[in-house]
Amino acid sequence: MVNLDIHHKPENLSDKVALAFTKLLRFIADTFFKKKYGHRAVVLETVAAVPGMVGGMLIHLKSLRRIKEDKGWIKTLLDEAENERMHLMTFINIAQPTLFERFLICLHSYLYSILSMVILFLQEQLTE
Ligand SMILES: [Fe+2]
Repeated sequence: MVNLDIHHKPENLSDKVALAFTKLLRFIADTFFKKKYGHRAVVLETVAAVPGMVGGMLIHLKSLRRIKEDKGWIKTLLDEAENERMHLMTFINIAQPTLFERFLICLHSYLYSILSMVILFLQEQLTE
């Protein structure tokens, strides 16, 4: 069982950048959404739905390039992406985002998908 009371102290530059970025995003979310928790959940589910899809796609392409089995990872990651997308659909029905919030979701979805692809692709290239 994971002890959730333990706070990991940032030790290196990577940890410190991650913590600062997380705090910045938290500040933006708190400022923008205030007490609209359903709307905040919509954004979180939008974020959560991307990595599985991007990871599944990159593993799929890697498997094709190397003519190697994926050991079940493609299906697992795509299932996760679909699971998060279904969460998003649920929260959209609950929160009924405004037109502007829907625009932000679309914008975020494009930008985050592209950024995730670039980061995961570079990570794959640099770690091999
Ligand atoms: Fe979720």
